[in-house]
Amino acid sequence: MSYPVDETAFVEDARRLLSLLERYREQSISRERPAVRLPPLQTLVEELELARPLKRGGLTGQSLEDFVKRYLEATTRLHHPGFLAHQTPAPHYAGALGSLIDGFTNNPMAIYEMGPPAAAIELFMVNWLLERVGWQPQPLDAAADPGSHAGGVLTHGGSLANLTALIAARSRIAPEVWSEGNPPDLGLLASSQNHYSIARAAGILGLGARAVESLAVDARGRIVPDRLPVALGRLRDAGRRPMALVANAGSTALGLYDPLEEIAAFCREEGIWLHVDGAHGASALLSPKLRPLLRGIEQADSLIWDAHKMLRTPPLCAAVLLRDHRWLDQAFQQEASYLFHDKRQPGVDLIQRTVECTKAALGLKLYLVVAAMGEQGLAGFVERQTALARDAWAFFEGHPDFSCPVRPESNILCFAWRDWDERHLALRDRLIGQGDFHLSTAQINGRWHLRAVFMNPLTTLADVERLADRVAEEAAGL
Ligand SMILES: Cc1ncc(COP(=O)(O)O)c(C=O)c1O
Repeated sequence: MSYPVDETAFVEDARRLLSLLERYREQSISRERPAVRLPPLQTLVEELELARPLKRGGLTGQSLEDFVKRYLEATTRLHHPGFLAHQTPAPHYAGALGSLIDGFTNNPMAIYEMGPPAAAIELFMVNWLLERVGWQPQPLDAAADPGSHAGGVLTHGGSLANLTALIAARSRIAPEVWSEGNPPDLGLLASSQNHYSIARAAGILGLGARAVESLAVDARGRIVPDRLPVALGRLRDAGRRPMALVANAGSTALGLYDPLEEIAAFCREEGIWLHVDGAHGASALLSPKLRPLLRGIEQADSLIWDAHKMLRTPPLCAAVLLRDHRWLDQAFQQEASYLFHDKRQPGVDLIQRTVECTKAALGLKLYLVVAAMGEQGLAGFVERQTALARDAWAFFEGHPDFSCPVRPESNILCFAWRDWDERHLALRDRLIGQGDFHLSTAQINGRWHLRAVFMNPLTTLADVERLADRVAEEAAGL
């Protein structure tokens, strides 16, 4: 049976798509289209006219253009200055071009021979990140390996990065785990403010919620170093050994930084692996002004850092970074003769460091963004977004109808309308229905708040003032 293989339309189709994307960007930036629109699922499936071309194919040329127009109309627009909902950036276009190159060439580079330039760029960019932390980069020439150095790998997202880092932590305390299974006494010290992927990773690792000891936090949700011995005592009294302590460098709800220096001193004293979740906040390392927020980071054992958050890289690109590469190199111990064996060929296979087998050219996207914006350009972006969140905080604090639970340390700001609690949920729904602003919500100390994440470089304080007016209007209608 023959089937149509007509890929000659590539250049023509790509040209059409580029002009659609350009128009999309303009309509988003100019607010001509809403930041968000949420039709019911069934309606959307019908609007997109998905079913028609599936049997016979042929979605190309004008019909492809029409489909992409329908798709773009329905998107949540991260380029819109009113998009403040989540920790996802309007990606720098250079990174999006990287996604196109990667999608087209498909070089799954966890095996060097499957993507030499992608693998080389990943190692190069992991070293760039390691150096930003203050850790010793990995030698690119095995013959020049000094033995002790840091290591890392890129993963498809921060959740997988947290899991990978905790698997590496387990490989230190329980090196026999792949043959014997988990020792029954493993425990974890974590904060209630950790991203849920930490609890999920603990579950995937087979720890069980009872093995996770919750660390005391202050009113702002930051770990209290003086209370760490109590938590450790409780864990030990329960007959458990801590596999790791997990701290935040940029918590999800409020974007706050745990006091890493004091926590690291405690961990060093007690021989506990310190894992820092810097998925959101590690990008402050690029800025000499903001870097002190992560004081002590170089003493951590592992750090994750999402480029697809504050480094304006398209999804997904997260880094798992370890001060000592050995624990990552022994984290996974599977056999697969068709992939893992000593090869007499150049390069390094990263597949031993990842959950993933097929892995995209994640480093390429990050590289293209950093190379386009420059390290200083990215530092300026992080500083600008942080300053905007702080200006917005000052604005809301000075407004008679708004208040904020904490002054932001990063670009995430929670705020409340009057003394409202769960009515903020309905308020957010009304804002979404209106479409000019897309916010999220978070519970802080048991009370619901509106949450703004300033990811878009075109959002200004004037937008915040407009947002305040809009909130007042919608609140009046509730
Ligand atoms: C602190 C923190 N860690 C981890 C994650 C998970 O990252 P990802 O969404 O890339 O899986 C997030 C996502 O919001 C986060 O805020």
